[in-house]
Amino acid sequence: MAERLLLSIETSCDETAIALIDISRPLDSFDKASSAILADLIASQTDLHAAYGGVVPEIAAREHLNVLPALLGRAFSSSGRSARDIAAIAATRGPGLKGCLLVGLSFAKALARSLGVPLIPLNHLEGHIFAGELNDEGAKVELPLLTLVVSGGHTLLVSSASFREYRIIARTRDDAAGEAFDKSAALLGLPYPGGPALSRLAEGGDPTRFRLPVGMPKDPSSFSFSGLKTAVSRLVATFDGGRVPEDDRADLAASVEHAIVNALVTKTLDAIRSEKPRSFVLTGGVAANRTLRSRLSEALTPLGIALIAPPARWCTDNAAMMGILGARVFERNRDAYARGPADGTLGLDVPPDISALARWPLDAGPLL
Ligand code: KG4
Ligand code: ZN
Repeated sequence: MAERLLLSIETSCDETAIALIDISRPLDSFDKASSAILADLIASQTDLHAAYGGVVPEIAAREHLNVLPALLGRAFSSSGRSARDIAAIAATRGPGLKGCLLVGLSFAKALARSLGVPLIPLNHLEGHIFAGELNDEGAKVELPLLTLVVSGGHTLLVSSASFREYRIIARTRDDAAGEAFDKSAALLGLPYPGGPALSRLAEGGDPTRFRLPVGMPKDPSSFSFSGLKTAVSRLVATFDGGRVPEDDRADLAASVEHAIVNALVTKTLDAIRSEKPRSFVLTGGVAANRTLRSRLSEALTPLGIALIAPPARWCTDNAAMMGILGARVFERNRDAYARGPADGTLGLDVPPDISALARWPLDAGPLL
């Protein structure tokens, strides 16, 4: 039998990503979920957008269109597989930049139609949650699950009592945690996206040197980071010429990191006390932050909960996490998918006119 593959396509922001997942047998029969990944490619556009200080949606969408065909070719050649092996195609439907999502979803639709295989449209945030399965330790993610998704666009504490059911415990009222890192980094003169650079700079600094406010300290259901950015901007303006002196840069970076990490850790612990999850997953681009990882890990140990966090390359946007989610959806509906897409659908309940969703909260109803 030809090997059965799931192709996943992720284009919600500025990374074009493609992965191939082995779905010929259940994910749980692998020693760890990452062993099912046969190809995992990312074409990053960071350099293209750096000159603008942020992602330019129109440029990002065009670039996805330019690189997708060659990236798919590389996924096949690097894994020794071909289009004939594909049994299903997963694609990110939202949330994200509309034009970017449309490119990936249209590409996936056309391929699914021409190969006669089902399309599995997926929520990007749900993909970040399933990245928890891609931890190096092979730790099992168990329900009920609490997940902290911290990225450039999102800051969410999400509780799941059962498969694909989500309740939002806390969300940001304004900026995302990654945005707070990036905006503070920009005020320190670091190039976009400055989160990782700010965090490196913070390593030699004193986190108690500058007292920076974090919003909504008393509200367990809200994060707020816009006040932090304003405070950093005011502080920077007090220095001569608005330039932070060399001797103070590391201290300021460490103080910013401390303020953001504190807010995330405090609210996560509140949620753990109220939700009593069996597993906790830390994911999204900011999950690559070492201080956040170690502070959470220290705080969770006494509670008897292990920190499950994917390695950095699966914390930031990637197609492998979307593929693992797609594989989980596929295996739950294996028999229905085996019958092939019913007339007038692209698979299960997916209508042919399905479109991208720029906004798509996880708790907005059934995920299609
Ligand atoms: O998940 P992601 O790749 O893209 C979005 O969906 O937003 O997250 C990117 C964000 C950026 O804001 C970036 O600065 C931040 O994650 N980030 C970090 C670190 N690595 C990435 N922030 C703080 N410390 C890091 N080590
Ligand atoms: Zn993301």
